[in-house]
Amino acid sequence: MKETDLLIIGAGPGGYRAAEFAAKNGLKVVIFETGDVGGTCLNVGCIPTKSFVHDAEIIQTLNNAETFGLNGLDYEFDIQKVIQRKDEVIASLRSGIETLLSHPNITLVKAEAQFLDAHTVMAAGEEYSANYIIVATGSVPKTLRLEKPVARRVLDSSDLLSIDSQPKSLCIIGAGVIGMEFASIFNAFGTEVIVVEFLKECLPVLDSDIAKRLRKSLEKQGVTFHMQSAVTAITEDGVMFTDKKGNSVTVEAEEVLMAVGRAPLVFDHFRHAGFDYSERNGIIVNEHLQTTVSHIYAIGDVNARQMLAHAAEMQAIHVVNQILGKSDDIRLDIMPAAIFTLPEAACVGLSEDLCKEQGVDYICKKSFWRANGKALAMNEAEGLLKLIASPNGDILGCHAYGAHAADLIQEVSALMCRNTTVEQLAQIVHIHPTLSEILQAAAEQ
Ligand code: NAI
Repeated sequence: MKETDLLIIGAGPGGYRAAEFAAKNGLKVVIFETGDVGGTCLNVGCIPTKSFVHDAEIIQTLNNAETFGLNGLDYEFDIQKVIQRKDEVIASLRSGIETLLSHPNITLVKAEAQFLDAHTVMAAGEEYSANYIIVATGSVPKTLRLEKPVARRVLDSSDLLSIDSQPKSLCIIGAGVIGMEFASIFNAFGTEVIVVEFLKECLPVLDSDIAKRLRKSLEKQGVTFHMQSAVTAITEDGVMFTDKKGNSVTVEAEEVLMAVGRAPLVFDHFRHAGFDYSERNGIIVNEHLQTTVSHIYAIGDVNARQMLAHAAEMQAIHVVNQILGKSDDIRLDIMPAAIFTLPEAACVGLSEDLCKEQGVDYICKKSFWRANGKALAMNEAEGLLKLIASPNGDILGCHAYGAHAADLIQEVSALMCRNTTVEQLAQIVHIHPTLSEILQAAAEQ
């Protein structure tokens, strides 16, 4: 039996950040990983999609070349090169994480860890025990339960990131974060994209007015949306669904992407540890990410709180601080999120819809990209920001779409963590000319 201070199961953003921070603070750590370090985010999520998004952005700029005085430009799109660049980005970051995990206080075990009891796990025939355990096993794509068996190849987001040729057409089931990001990317790559979504509007996390504008924007760029449409079957020809008028429709497409959410990755052997969990809700944790067995914590997608890499990382730091007996000011309740479509969308805190739903009194201050000097100089006139505040000026949230929306939301997030009011925000000097003035302009209203 090998004894240590902390065992971590999973080396995604939650697991490896916890290992790095714990080791720096003097704890001896053993971290287990069956696949490549970096988890979904690095290998099949945030990073590869952002590499593709950057390529898509360049294509969009090239398609508007004449606006910038570049006449007669001709190019050939080479998806192999795009895939190769994405793989190089992943490899470079992966080796960075491997270096982090080579810290003398960290042992990386490349094997599956299984709980034997609440203090012990078994991996590659060896038993490991510790006073504290962090479970950070992540999530997996969900699939639809359909009456008839699926009669063709259906991709999930990981599969689509490793295709070796560009599909002529792509039907995406689900207009959530993954569906919208891939719709935007493959549309820019020149694939015909058709999205089928069950709900009335895309991106349920976002202010519905902003989500609608973003969807209309993608529609103008060439993406077809079938909203309020329930998928009934996936046949050899394509995707069958009942549209909002009750008609049965079939969309033919070369490839089908299933993007209907992700489920926490839980295992049967968790029951040996004794904490509460379910396939649907993942591992049950309290506000300090402690499971129902107090020395075992669950961070990241597996606790199904917010399936975001930055949420997992900050949960990791918070948990290690508790193990070290240190307090911190990490505000896990203020969790910004971004959707990397073209243009980008982002949000933090309450939307107008949520305020109405929850009966919260609010004021909404709006500002538009088209009124901002830098945005026009960048040829990025499209965008809307809504700053939501209480009647006495406390910032409750901010939702936006437009170029670099995530950067503006990040500022709001920082201000919310420090309880800054809208009036105080209006009095903070913002560099001219920058997109950040869009936020200040909203606050000044
Ligand atoms: P999601 O929950 O964002 O969206 C799933 C969509 O599928 C919903 O709009 C839902 O109404 C729709 N849907 C469900 N059943 C359907 C059906 N039968 N027919 C048609 N539509 C149906 O899930 P998604 O996009 O798969 O993302 C999974 C997780 O990964 C999310 O928690 C997301 O936050 C995270 N993620 C975050 C990213 C980021 O931060 N930029 C990027 C990608 C994923």
